[in-house]
Amino acid sequence: MNPDAQILRSLRGAGEAGVSGAALAKSLGVSRAAVWARIEELRRAGYDIEASPHHGYRLHGSPDRLHADDLLARLGPIKVIGRDIQVFNETSSTNDIVEKLARDLVAEGIAVFAESQTKGRGRLGRRWSSPAGKGLWLSVLLRPNLAPAAATQLTVSTAVAVARAIEKNTGLQPGIKWPNDIVFGTRKCAGILLELGAELDHIKHVILGIGIDVNILAEEFPEELRPIATSLQAEAGHPIDRPSLATALLQELDAVYARLRAGDFHEIGDEWMRRCTTLGQRVTIRVADRVVTGRAEALDEDGALLVRTEHGRLEHIIGGDVSLAK
Ligand code: BTN
Repeated sequence: MNPDAQILRSLRGAGEAGVSGAALAKSLGVSRAAVWARIEELRRAGYDIEASPHHGYRLHGSPDRLHADDLLARLGPIKVIGRDIQVFNETSSTNDIVEKLARDLVAEGIAVFAESQTKGRGRLGRRWSSPAGKGLWLSVLLRPNLAPAAATQLTVSTAVAVARAIEKNTGLQPGIKWPNDIVFGTRKCAGILLELGAELDHIKHVILGIGIDVNILAEEFPEELRPIATSLQAEAGHPIDRPSLATALLQELDAVYARLRAGDFHEIGDEWMRRCTTLGQRVTIRVADRVVTGRAEALDEDGALLVRTEHGRLEHIIGGDVSLAK
């Protein structure tokens, strides 16, 4: 961990008791003057750090901005996801950045956030609106040992992690609309875009793109999205702390990914089913040039949706756009 992350972790750990410059200098292996210079830099980045002769340094507040070192400091022990973090002020799409990292053979687990995206993309070639400082727009690089057909397990697991993080951080209880929309009622507040680099029999890498509408007011959504979109602030009735939600999200993603790698998809699948608002409904799904209508019955071991059609056939649906059947 770099010095700023270590300082922020010590300050958060010490709370109101504070931590002395001498103790920080010792744990970092640098001079007190060097610690002071780092503290000044953090203050310039918006951290409210008090220095007093009695308490040493105390952290009183942090900015509503994502800061890679602060996220690392907050994360605590993780296995894979979040072991490296990058934050961009603006980018085309965080999926593009991670795509490049994948080509450069960077190790799995790196998480890339942007405060805003100019070309954020959603599923099925749609645009993803990503206004500055109002959401969490992030992509994670993974290199799972899964067959391409099992990639839906990752989508399902990610949806569970996003729902858990929102619940833990805000107390709200979102639902999941198959396969990857996080919803409140019929309105979506978050989506997941999985992009694969794969060969026939194995996945080379996965880019897990997640977008969460956090502090967007209802009237701030583009007009065409207003009837179908919502944000955590709109649901909670107050703004949500994005850095703390980002931390919870990385922790939950890391936890479900550890489960998945241990071969425990079943438990995640069960939780997905409990949270899912699609199961039991009559649905219409567009899959490429086909339309399937039937009752969404369950999820199979690869995360595919099992739909019982009117003709009694059980269809395994691995992708597509679900809507409630009329
Ligand atoms: C969906 O259509 O529901 C998926 C939306 C995914 C949006 C996220 S925001 C971060 C990452 N970068 C992108 O360009 N898209 C994903």
